[in-house]
Amino acid sequence: MNLSKWVFQIFIIFTLFNLQISTGVSQFSNNFLKIAKQDEFFSWMVGIRRKIHEHPELGYQEFETSQVIRQELDKLGVGYNHPVAVTGVVGFVGSGQPPFVAIRADMDALPLQEMVEWEHKSKIPGKMHACGHDAHVTMLLGAAKILKDHSHLLKGTVVLVFQPAEEGGGGAIQVVDSGVLRNVKAIFGLHVSPGLPLGQVSSKPGTLLAGSGFFEAVITGKGGHAAIPQHAIDPILAASNVVVSLQHLVSREVNPLDSQVVTVAKFQGGGAFNVIPDSVTIGGTFRAFSKESFMQLKQRIEEVIIGQATVHRCNATVEFSTKDRPFIPVTINDNNLHKYFQNVAGDVLGPSNVKSMLPLMGSEDFSVYQEVIPGYFYFLGMKTESNKKPTSVHSPFFEINEDILPFGAAMHASLVANYLTEIQDSETQLNEKHHNEL
Ligand SMILES: *[C@@H]1O[C@H](CO)[C@@H](O)[C@H](O)[C@H]1NC(C)=O
Repeated sequence: MNLSKWVFQIFIIFTLFNLQISTGVSQFSNNFLKIAKQDEFFSWMVGIRRKIHEHPELGYQEFETSQVIRQELDKLGVGYNHPVAVTGVVGFVGSGQPPFVAIRADMDALPLQEMVEWEHKSKIPGKMHACGHDAHVTMLLGAAKILKDHSHLLKGTVVLVFQPAEEGGGGAIQVVDSGVLRNVKAIFGLHVSPGLPLGQVSSKPGTLLAGSGFFEAVITGKGGHAAIPQHAIDPILAASNVVVSLQHLVSREVNPLDSQVVTVAKFQGGGAFNVIPDSVTIGGTFRAFSKESFMQLKQRIEEVIIGQATVHRCNATVEFSTKDRPFIPVTINDNNLHKYFQNVAGDVLGPSNVKSMLPLMGSEDFSVYQEVIPGYFYFLGMKTESNKKPTSVHSPFFEINEDILPFGAAMHASLVANYLTEIQDSETQLNEKHHNEL
């Protein structure tokens, strides 16, 4: 072998080595989507999704869903903790050593009668997966399978969080309280989006979704004959004025550039045409994008309800979110994770499929994780040409485009697998730096 050939070979080896380093972030990405799109893999996911769709369960009652998850993890040979937060399951893939990074899917359905007629329609009357959590669970199992098949390459441990009770039950709070996320460096989560084209993602750094709370008030007057109002104290009129006054909070007291919402969605009182009732119950939700705005709104809602009731000679009691329906914090995406997300999503889906978006007034208890560890939440599209008018989430006509499943599985797996490589690399660099400084 002559010298020039040697030099050439060394050059090739060196180039390949460099290539691998410089594309560290995309080490797994393209590959994972291909794997998840393979026929066998895809039909496995579709089967799981349909099984969960047929048996929807409400928050903290996801016993069958939990069982499906554990059966699949058992088949994959993925270890887990159970129960976490009543029905939750937390799986582990990788080296079993730090660093730890988490991915989360929510498990619960909604109290809604499915109106879509198809072979795998909900078999439980009055309950439906109308928010895509059946797909969320399936995509996380898909990621578990991909990661398990590559676990020898993982430079740390992935924590798979199957969380109950996202729809108002505060399942994330119980998961955090269980301590399973101690030492976890970052967490990722996604939501299916009916309006965003298939294979696209969208999100933003900083505030993404609103903080949300509920209120309920009982306005008490004095019942009587409807024809003799002077002997009664009318809580219907008082409550009506309360509703109108509550609408002045956002329009008159809040900076128009600081988006907030107060909606009275419940108004119950009376039952006869000729009887003034003793009391009226009203309730609703309020939303804001900062803790300060949220707390200010909460205080003013209470003051206005009690004050307006007094004007009309009534008494009022106001209750805010309880243990069953806790306050949900603002969803705030970590700025560093945003840059990281854009790189990985660009590698998996192509840079043109990574979109940015405005914040939404909806809320997500993923924010509970973000209060304790850096987290990133994004939307994954499933709209196709044939599906021109997508039905929104929480509609009885909501449908999942099952072609979304491989995208979710691949995105989940790529985000965490590459993350472990990245932080291992940056820690090694850091250690080397310290070493050199010594
Ligand atoms: C409101 O509360 C006060 C103090 O408890 C009571 O005296 C009054 O009768 C109440 N008014 C109504 C309309 O219930």
